[in-house]
Amino acid sequence: MMITNGADSGFGKFAAEARDFLFHTNFASFAERKDHFMKYLIISGNPKKDGLCDSALKEAVRGAADGGADVEVVTVEKLERCHVCGDGWGVCWDQNRCAFGGDGFDEIHEKVKKADQLCVITPVYWWEMAESVKCFIDRLRRCEFGQNGALAGKQVLLVDSAGGTGNGGIGCLEQMERFCKHTALNVFDAIYVNRWNNDYKKAAIYAAARAMSEGRKAGETL
Ligand SMILES: Cc1cc2nc3c(=O)[nH]c(=O)nc-3n(C[C@H](O)[C@H](O)[C@H](O)COP(=O)(O)O)c2cc1C
Repeated sequence: MMITNGADSGFGKFAAEARDFLFHTNFASFAERKDHFMKYLIISGNPKKDGLCDSALKEAVRGAADGGADVEVVTVEKLERCHVCGDGWGVCWDQNRCAFGGDGFDEIHEKVKKADQLCVITPVYWWEMAESVKCFIDRLRRCEFGQNGALAGKQVLLVDSAGGTGNGGIGCLEQMERFCKHTALNVFDAIYVNRWNNDYKKAAIYAAARAMSEGRKAGETL
């Protein structure tokens, strides 16, 4: 498990498994097995360590890792907003890239393309996504719009944490769902966590991330 642009939250399961495997077999067969791990990318807009959103994020990491995925967390706080190039349609529309992606966007865009599955997790600010997540998503959907984009058909888990009044958690998920519709992402689940439901909602986040990484598909009947 790797955390990019953020703090390592101490999830060593993947490393421990890899070490155990290496001690019991040769490197070539480990590399072969690693090729089959699900790449599970978590996009986080949470600027805070600890707190409700961080605890929800950790459940997603734990669930995906326990399901056997290779988990990575990226944070998007430092990226710029969309510049709305040209007359409103920039190179993103026909070249599937951002004109100023060198600010860190390109690197995360590549990770998103390579991931098998995604989780987007954000604190609720002003009844909406954190501005950082919204800015990232605004740029990403312009590059990956529609059925032919790199996100089409990938499964995603949507999580928001409304740590204040609890207001806005549902509207925020709707906002995230619109991004999924624009990019043809397949919503596996959408979970809204607040101060008085987080005991059972965090258990749900763990279970959802785990079920995804174990290979369950949205649309299957249990
Ligand atoms: C600018 C700002 C706006 C916020 N707006 C809301 C809101 O609309 N609804 C809500 O329930 N909480 C709101 N909060 C609280 C955050 O949702 C909460 O801090 C977040 O879930 C992270 O939880 P934590 O502070 O325990 O880490 C807001 C916080 C900030 C900083």
